[in-house]
Amino acid sequence: SKINLKDYKKPSFDVETIDLDIKLFETYAQIDSVLKMVRQTTGDLVLFGEDLELLMVKMNGSQLGTEDYQQQAGKLTISDAPNEVTLEIQVRICPQTNTALEGFYMAGSGDDTMFVTQCEPEGFRKITFYPDRPDVLAIFTTRLEADKRYPTLLANGNLVEAGEVTDEPNRHYAIWHDPTNKPSYLFACVVADLDVLTDSYKTSEGRNVLLEIYAKSADIDKCDVGMQALKDAMKWDEVNYGRAYDLDRYMIVAVSQFNMGAMENKGLNIFNTACVLSSPETTTDARSFSVKAIIAHEYFHNWTGNRITCRDWFQLCLKEGFTVYRDQSFSADQQSSAVQRIDDVATLRAHQFSEDAGPLAHPVRPESFVEINNFYTTTVYEKGAEIVRMIANTLGQEDFRKGTDEYFRRYDGQAVTVEDFLSALSITDNKIEDFIDWYRQPGTPVVSGHQNYDSATQTLTITLSQQTRHVSGFDAPKPLPIPVATALFDKDSGNIIAERMLLLDQATQTFACEDVASEPVVSLLRDFSAPVQLNYDYQDEDLAFLLTHETNGFNRWQVTQMLVNRILLQGQGSKSSPDVYLQALAQTLPRLAADDAMLAARLLDIPSAQELASAINKNYDPELIKAQREALYQQVAEALKDQWAGLYEQLPMQSYEDSADARGTRALRNVVLDMALTANVNGAVEWAEQQYNNASCMTERFGALKAMVNHQVTNADEYLADFYERFQENDLVIDLWFSVQASADTVSTDVIQSLLEHQDFDWNTPNRVRSVISAFSSQPTVLWTQEGLEIYTGVIKKLDDANPVLASRLLQTLARWNTLVEPRRQMAHNKLLDLQKHAASKHVIESLESVLKAEN
Ligand code: ARG
Ligand code: ZN
Repeated sequence: SKINLKDYKKPSFDVETIDLDIKLFETYAQIDSVLKMVRQTTGDLVLFGEDLELLMVKMNGSQLGTEDYQQQAGKLTISDAPNEVTLEIQVRICPQTNTALEGFYMAGSGDDTMFVTQCEPEGFRKITFYPDRPDVLAIFTTRLEADKRYPTLLANGNLVEAGEVTDEPNRHYAIWHDPTNKPSYLFACVVADLDVLTDSYKTSEGRNVLLEIYAKSADIDKCDVGMQALKDAMKWDEVNYGRAYDLDRYMIVAVSQFNMGAMENKGLNIFNTACVLSSPETTTDARSFSVKAIIAHEYFHNWTGNRITCRDWFQLCLKEGFTVYRDQSFSADQQSSAVQRIDDVATLRAHQFSEDAGPLAHPVRPESFVEINNFYTTTVYEKGAEIVRMIANTLGQEDFRKGTDEYFRRYDGQAVTVEDFLSALSITDNKIEDFIDWYRQPGTPVVSGHQNYDSATQTLTITLSQQTRHVSGFDAPKPLPIPVATALFDKDSGNIIAERMLLLDQATQTFACEDVASEPVVSLLRDFSAPVQLNYDYQDEDLAFLLTHETNGFNRWQVTQMLVNRILLQGQGSKSSPDVYLQALAQTLPRLAADDAMLAARLLDIPSAQELASAINKNYDPELIKAQREALYQQVAEALKDQWAGLYEQLPMQSYEDSADARGTRALRNVVLDMALTANVNGAVEWAEQQYNNASCMTERFGALKAMVNHQVTNADEYLADFYERFQENDLVIDLWFSVQASADTVSTDVIQSLLEHQDFDWNTPNRVRSVISAFSSQPTVLWTQEGLEIYTGVIKKLDDANPVLASRLLQTLARWNTLVEPRRQMAHNKLLDLQKHAASKHVIESLESVLKAEN
């Protein structure tokens, strides 16, 4: 059943304290809880509970019979409860068979098991009956009891007491107390056998904080990168937002089976191993960089999410959008900010724009949902972050800081809304409140425009207009405030003659620039000042001009991407020749390779097949797009054929170092290697083999392996076998081994099928499932076939019951089926209809319903 934002009601009872006693046994767990509740408003006392075996419930000391409460549809309701209530509840759950990875569940198998929780958004109700909603804040005390074969017993807050269980020599317990008022989605506990890496941090307020990262003993040597990132993040939040940590202990636990990246539980983060473990030998630079970003993200949630939390799940973007903006800013301080912006914008364009263009389009703050898990989307996270960025840029650094200070001052300890956030940020400028429409309206605005130069009056007029598609089920779109960062370039000197922030907040507007001596080239949407599609009336020569003269790396990349898109989307009506682009690349690359290798590597990006597809709304032909993409790639490789050998030599392999320069060198070397193989440069196969064999780190080894696999060099299979041998013991590296095959340019459904049947394939480990299935979906020519869809929807069917969160996420990848060219479209439609007959979880049912509602 649908839940609507407009139906929000305050809870009738508040919880002051909850005492939890969690006893883990061989085949089940028993949970005893004591809730002290106080009435806030009239109405029933409502607790949520799912998959619980209720053993006993007492209210103010007397046991309730089934006639004293109603139990249905995941709710336990007590009518006419007194104003002060102490509830004692006893339930039994089964973490050992919980494959959904929500609530309290077992990870691992055989002798190698551990127990962890995932409560966001609504997992706590799978642990016990509780008013499991984010606007109910309580003080938690948690006692954990288990067999001593699990020496690690962790919960939120501070350790109060630990010891042996009387008369049970094999069992022990620990009691944790969290002094912060928190919603149940931030509850966490861990029962495991883990090693720990320990460090400490002294906050700006003088608090000594114990830092701990828990992992399996074999992985403890891969925790240093995460630990350093944690300390960097703690410092960064003090410097940039004036926020210090508030407990004496900060713990991170690595678990191999986890649906998402990580979770910000108060004082006890739980992380997917892929998002916390990192070592040069086993982790690529890209992955390692994202480890740091995710550590920072979860840490930043302590203020944006935990201390100030969400009133209801419609406000998810309140914590996620702001926290993503914060982690992006943190990352921009750890590498070139141009490259950071490039990566964030590329992700937004590839995933969020396509979500916004299809049937799953929803506002950054949705207004209704059936299953909130379906809304942990790139729209909520990444578009949400872009809105905060627009606000921050509009206010400028100083006023933005005043606004965030005000936000923390006003709402600390509360569960609030997007409106509250905007109102705090408006203290210096009440126009900020106009940004609310960005949270309400789905669809990516398209900004079109042209210019007019009048030499008589020396006036340049820029006309801009905005248009957003009308997504069915929503109000007709209205104009949004769109900040368009603009610079005018003098054609002769190549210098900037004026910089302006144009605020486009009507359907069409003209902006006049005076005293312009000759017609300039206009650079728009600099630094991607708003999450829109830009459709300006440029000549290719203008873009080529900007490619050379734009002053920052991001803008040069953006212009390059515009050129590439024009070339590739030729079939879609544009008609640019690649010459301008190839020439500009040939001129820029050598110098840039020496100055900023990472940026040089990005300038050679050709948008992914998926990103290109997101711009096509009808008759999308995966074969055609793939062919055009490959042809352009080939042209680039050949146009610069003479340069690859020199470049490759300019970028020698050195002993491993984790600096921005060293990472840039490795990234560019991998791109150059692939280009050289594409252009059949003499000796390139040997470079690849040597790079693989002499690699100092995973970025070098995996880059070489990937290039060999994608180019089907003669010995590729031997290298794949060697890679498997070397890293057999390391699940995260074996994930790479699966994904390099599943995402290969030459992959077939037979290969996918055999990977799924491989002895190391594991349906219970989301990382492994994604290493094959998500990797494979990056090859649309194979995905959108009878056999490809058979496999893909088969996987969804298989996971629907066991792990609906994962199944539904995988399904969302198929959202754009309706844009396909026939007969693929009809075939995809049939496969989805067939899936609908089998769909069981509300997660998959809701997603499927939206996906099938495709309008265009
Ligand atoms: N709050 C977490 C983060 O952004 C994500 C948790 C999502 N979990 C889920 N089951 N949807 O870091
Ligand atoms: Zn988050």
